[in-house]
Amino acid sequence: MNLIFFKPRNIGFLMRMIKERLLELFLKREDLASDVRNYVLNNAKKNDPDSVLNTMDEFAKRKRFLMNVGDVKGKILTDEIKKLGSNLTILELGCFCGYSAILMAKTLGEQGKVISIEISKHYAKIANEIIEFSGLKNKVIIIEGPSEKIIPTLRYEFDLVFIDHWKDLYKRDLQLIEKRGLLKNQSIVFADNVGSLIEALVGKRGKSTDYLEYVRNHKNFQSKNINTNLEYSNAEDAVEISTYNMSNE
Ligand SMILES: C[S@@+](CC[C@H](N)C(=O)[O-])C[C@H]1O[C@@H](n2cnc3c(N)ncnc32)[C@H](O)[C@@H]1O
Repeated sequence: MNLIFFKPRNIGFLMRMIKERLLELFLKREDLASDVRNYVLNNAKKNDPDSVLNTMDEFAKRKRFLMNVGDVKGKILTDEIKKLGSNLTILELGCFCGYSAILMAKTLGEQGKVISIEISKHYAKIANEIIEFSGLKNKVIIIEGPSEKIIPTLRYEFDLVFIDHWKDLYKRDLQLIEKRGLLKNQSIVFADNVGSLIEALVGKRGKSTDYLEYVRNHKNFQSKNINTNLEYSNAEDAVEISTYNMSNE
């Protein structure tokens, strides 16, 4: 058993995950995405992105855990976006229920766009409903399908790429993005959930350390790691923020 599971700051999160898993097994609960959609529609203010995000945060803290980027890492993400400007084109890998798409879109100016790829038809549908309710439909395009099929069809140059789908796909998909020429000079690649707790939990499928090694040793990227908290908990997590520098070609 990995010692990281016994660190005091991680135990609360792990207990919560075990409790939620047991509730999933023994209670007939509505599926998570529909549950959060209904909660938002019943409790948030329409056409008010902040109210929608706060309501999703409240749901994740008080009711059921959501794998959103969350408020703490969300602030690190929006600070990076603000440094780049306002009318940006952003690519997201992994939309889930639309939390980070709303967060990024609300930070952008009128000409800004978020293109978000989501493999699950159900999540893509729910995200579209929540984004529409938030009033940001004109700034977010959700493309439903697996990232490996969608990335090679894209025709944009992205100012920022937010990688937040399954950890074992980070390296492969960054390589697809590079191959397709979707980055420009000074584009930012922001990777969520690269902390060692997530690595220990899901590492069997593939490792985000492969991604970290790749991006840190790449001649075109300058990379920094920020230690932070896993969404809606005190457990440990980290994000990797990498700047693409074409002059090192
Ligand atoms: C951590 S959640 C995304 C959270 C979201 N970015 C947010 O902060 O609100 C990961 C999502 O990636 C999606 N996903 C997993 N593999 C994918 C793939 N190959 N292509 C597209 N989406 C994928 C999952 O269905 C899931 O909804």
